[in-house]
Amino acid sequence: MDGNIKGITILGSTGSVGTQAIEVVKQFPDKLKIIGLAAKSSHTKLSQQIQQISPLMVYWDKSQNSDTIMTKYEKLYSEIPDLCTNQNVDIVLTATTGVTSIYPTIQAIRSGKNIALANKESIIIAGEHIISEAEKHSVEILPLDSEPNAIWQCIQGEKPEINRVFITSSGGSLRSKPLEMLGESTVEETLKHPNWAMGPKITVDSATLMNKVFEVVEAKWLFNIPWEKIDVIVHHQSKIHSMVEFVDGSIKAQIGPSDMKLPIQYALLYPDRFKNPSINKFNPLENQTLTFEEIDQRRYPCFELGIETAKKGKTWPAVLCGANEGAVELFLTGKIKFSEIFTILNNVIKKHIPTQSPSLSDMMSTFQNAYIEAINSKV
Ligand SMILES: NC(=O)c1ccc[n+]([C@@H]2O[C@H](COP(=O)([O-])OP(=O)(O)OC[C@H]3O[C@@H](n4cnc5c(N)ncnc54)[C@H](OP(=O)(O)O)[C@@H]3O)[C@@H](O)[C@H]2O)c1
Repeated sequence: MDGNIKGITILGSTGSVGTQAIEVVKQFPDKLKIIGLAAKSSHTKLSQQIQQISPLMVYWDKSQNSDTIMTKYEKLYSEIPDLCTNQNVDIVLTATTGVTSIYPTIQAIRSGKNIALANKESIIIAGEHIISEAEKHSVEILPLDSEPNAIWQCIQGEKPEINRVFITSSGGSLRSKPLEMLGESTVEETLKHPNWAMGPKITVDSATLMNKVFEVVEAKWLFNIPWEKIDVIVHHQSKIHSMVEFVDGSIKAQIGPSDMKLPIQYALLYPDRFKNPSINKFNPLENQTLTFEEIDQRRYPCFELGIETAKKGKTWPAVLCGANEGAVELFLTGKIKFSEIFTILNNVIKKHIPTQSPSLSDMMSTFQNAYIEAINSKV
């Protein structure tokens, strides 16, 4: 890109992270410029974004439906790999759901682009491949998810002699629901997150705590922290986004409002910090109570199952991710009860026979098979 302006492609521009990333870019027109946008089927929102931002390239999933809203932008249409490898792009921000962005992420890395990584599924399934490709091509993985972003901020300027990492969890939308009624929770109440406005899939993952399993795996790959040094604690206020304890016992915490624009901005403008008037400030006097609790395994059975499965390595993280994708989809479409997410996960995981030293394509096919098995489950 031109001089000091960083060119950005956003995969998943119409989603929760994508739209907030656009807001951040708009605040810094002399530092950031959007080159490419990709979405699936939110054509009205995507066309509004095109009008406002004038990107060079746009992808939308043409197989989704036959509406003609995008026909006037046909000349801008590009396939996702081209959006990721274009010479004007410096950073690819991966904010799609599911596994769509995994191969484009690898292609972007191979063509020297830094990755602002929001998509959790890619690091669960392809963490090893992404990290080794990034090292090989000397590109940076810029953690955008608020908890890994907090860990990243805490270790700046440290020789990271890390003793322990505390990943914080809000506890999700069902944290106060009586245990005996938890299993019957409706989609509507599960999607009402007390602190964050996020897409539906991650909001359900936040209620089961599967999102914390994913963040533990993210911390392991992104910062090379061993499993036993990563703890998850419940912190209802979502103001401390994670903490790092160093070997001398000193703890650094990253504190801020529950606003994804902050980690997005940090990742896109790293290593610089700039004032952004659209981000509220954290005032300690208005937040006098910050609480911390252990995870209640009865409330979050998916957490222990998820951690134990992910730790086994090989194709286990892929089966976990695929089964979870299928189970959450069944829940969101009203086909199963909340409690059956765990039952389906457990059933699919129990049957898995792992592949030794799996390739990325083994991981992807394991994900896909587990997803299908979950979708076809009869509980
Ligand atoms: N939301 C958060 O605060 C947050 C925080 C940290 C990490 N994350 C992670 O970031 C990712 C995105 O989360 P989200 O909450 O932003 O999700 P979301 O609101 O559901 O948005 C998903 C985005 O991905 C696009 N998309 C889905 N499939 C696609 C495909 N095949 N091709 C092109 N675009 C596709 C969607 O397009 P359409 O709108 O057209 O369907 C939409 O723009 C997830 O992996 C999540 O775990 C989210």
